[in-house]
Amino acid sequence: MFDEYGIPRGAEPDDATLVPLYHFVYCSRAAEHVDDAEVTRIVEAAKRNNLAHGITGVLVFGSGVFFQWIEGPAAEIRKLIATLHRDERHYDIVSLSQSEEERERLYPDWDMERVEADDIRLVLQDALESAEDKNNRVALTRILEQLGSGSLEPIGRG
Ligand SMILES: Cc1cc2nc3c(=O)[nH]c(=O)nc-3n(C[C@H](O)[C@H](O)[C@H](O)COP(=O)(O)O)c2cc1C
Repeated sequence: MFDEYGIPRGAEPDDATLVPLYHFVYCSRAAEHVDDAEVTRIVEAAKRNNLAHGITGVLVFGSGVFFQWIEGPAAEIRKLIATLHRDERHYDIVSLSQSEEERERLYPDWDMERVEADDIRLVLQDALESAEDKNNRVALTRILEQLGSGSLEPIGRG
């Protein structure tokens, strides 16, 4: 009926209803034991929790690499970022972008949607092209090189 900002659901978004929205985009490497069933469990928990906290977004998994976009109220996103850093199912979290802006959601209908990445490289290359931070570009380039050389084994888990 109402969303987390007290705005009636289904209302036409216009300038008057734009609210500060925090977004966080990162990529990370899946831990060795993370298989398809584990990713399904992650998405199930994410859907449950995100709905309750006004968070929406998308999770891409391929070749042992995660790429995730999350958006929502700043306080909720910050809590989730802390939770993500404690989660041992992934590591080497590279923050690609985060900021607060008054804008519409990119993924208003997805409390967390898993998107299959036939080739996670394309997703990472896209991120690399728009990455302004030098450290992020270095980290992304390294992951891409490792994907290219096959040293991010086991490839094909995604
Ligand atoms: C790559 C990745 C993405 C995740 N995304 C989310 C998310 O969007 N929302 C969420 O609540 N938990 C997410 N999690 C899981 C959290 O780290 C944590 O396990 C979960 O929030 C705990 O929820 P529970 O107490 O309901 O089991 C993610 C975990 C990983 C490894």
